[in-house]
Amino acid sequence: MRKLVVLASGSGSLLQALIDAPANGVTYQISAVIGDSPTATALTRAQSAGIPAIALPKTGLSADQWQQELKTAVMSFAPDLVVSAGFMRIIKSDLFKLIPTINAHPSLLPNFPGSHAVADALAAGVSETGATVHYVDAGVDTGEIIAQQAVQVLPGDTESSLHERIKVVERNQLVSVVVRLCQQDDLWAGLRDD
Ligand code: GAR
Repeated sequence: MRKLVVLASGSGSLLQALIDAPANGVTYQISAVIGDSPTATALTRAQSAGIPAIALPKTGLSADQWQQELKTAVMSFAPDLVVSAGFMRIIKSDLFKLIPTINAHPSLLPNFPGSHAVADALAAGVSETGATVHYVDAGVDTGEIIAQQAVQVLPGDTESSLHERIKVVERNQLVSVVVRLCQQDDLWAGLRDD
């Protein structure tokens, strides 16, 4: 069974999908959830599921110190895979070089990287955007893409309505990628074609 550490900042609905994935065929266990805010609903979801939940607020720390604390906290669980699922911080340490680290992002990368992907897609007037899971590298949402799925932008969409439709896709996509990666001998290798 592969060990995951999940990083999450917000409501944690992607985390919940990872927690709720049917036990049949699941290839991972979540060793810990780490968030950057003590009030993140994601941490409450972890606690409710009996998963260690760690809040690492930036208060009082330099950017470098916080990055080091994050790396130390993650490494203390010796995970096979780190999953950034709604984590609104950039990993600037070398963590992603030591442990395969993947990120869910609400657009069809390389379009609309960054923390306002849904609003940016709406503002650009595109007819479709989507959901991407990619490896984390030193850039902002620039790592190798593992999976992508399109989502249509509908007339009258708001950022909230569009983001919610994207998140429906993201939940299945992320669980599917994590299950399949964890079945492989080499988690750095991307997904084999089945
Ligand atoms: C998801 O849409 C995820 O792709 C996005 O935050 C949302 C988390 O939803 N992540 C980013 O934008 C990272 N740049 P959740 O809190 O309901 O799981």
